[in-house]
Amino acid sequence: MRWGASPRALGRLPSCAGAAGARAFWRGSVSGVSDKVVLRPVGEDDLPLLYRLTSDPATAGEHEWFGWRDPREFPRRWAEDGLLGDDGGVVIVVRNSDRLGFLSWRKMRTSRGTHCWEIGIALLPEARGHGYGTLAQRMLAEYLFAHTHVNRIQAATEVTNVAEQRALEKAGFTREGILRGCGFRDGQWRDGVLYSILRGDVTDQWQADT
Ligand SMILES: CC(C)(COP(=O)(O)OP(=O)(O)OC[C@H]1O[C@@H](n2cnc3c(N)ncnc32)[C@H](O)[C@@H]1OP(=O)(O)O)[C@@H](O)C(=O)NCCC(=O)NCCS
Repeated sequence: MRWGASPRALGRLPSCAGAAGARAFWRGSVSGVSDKVVLRPVGEDDLPLLYRLTSDPATAGEHEWFGWRDPREFPRRWAEDGLLGDDGGVVIVVRNSDRLGFLSWRKMRTSRGTHCWEIGIALLPEARGHGYGTLAQRMLAEYLFAHTHVNRIQAATEVTNVAEQRALEKAGFTREGILRGCGFRDGQWRDGVLYSILRGDVTDQWQADT
């Protein structure tokens, strides 16, 4: 179990990646903060932003600085599959022409033959506190339920990351409990909080909206 926005273990293109590529962006059905927020695949010119959000301590923020990463990691994986693989992916959050940050997801096995997605997010410091984290995570959940078969999407964050907990709750995730001593960061093992959203939580809303 880990929290954070850094994706791992990306493989071949999934069926949903074609849809994202063809559509160019995903707007989802969330109303509220801004209908101009969209999700789109990572382009080559986004790679410095990913590196900055994961490897620059000032940009990553107090809960997301896990030490420097190999600067060739994102370019290498982007060259392989555009960061849209069978086991996970990354998309950029954009408002108008401004890049706000990125979202990621990766496969977590839940039983023999089943898995859920675990999502992560990192917004630029100037994009935080405007509701975009809430909106973007809801949009990613809707995107993943629309284009993959999973029943569950989960997210974990540190107990001290109040903004992320609140954003997940506002995005429709349910708080499930405390993960004791599960994440190591900045010299200490830290407690986490696990959240989830189920397919029915989202599709019931879709039906209510039609
Ligand atoms: C965590 C993060 C995604 C939240 O997104 P955001 O756009 O900043 O959050 P929102 O504006 O949607 O706010 C959600 C709620 O959190 C509250 N909030 C925002 N920043 C807060 C802070 N620093 N402390 C306490 N509450 C905060 C907001 O007030 C809002 O609650 P409210 O509507 O009841 O007032 C974003 O701040 C971020 O990218 N942080 C750095 C990376 C990170 O921590 N990622 C998560 C890793 S698990």
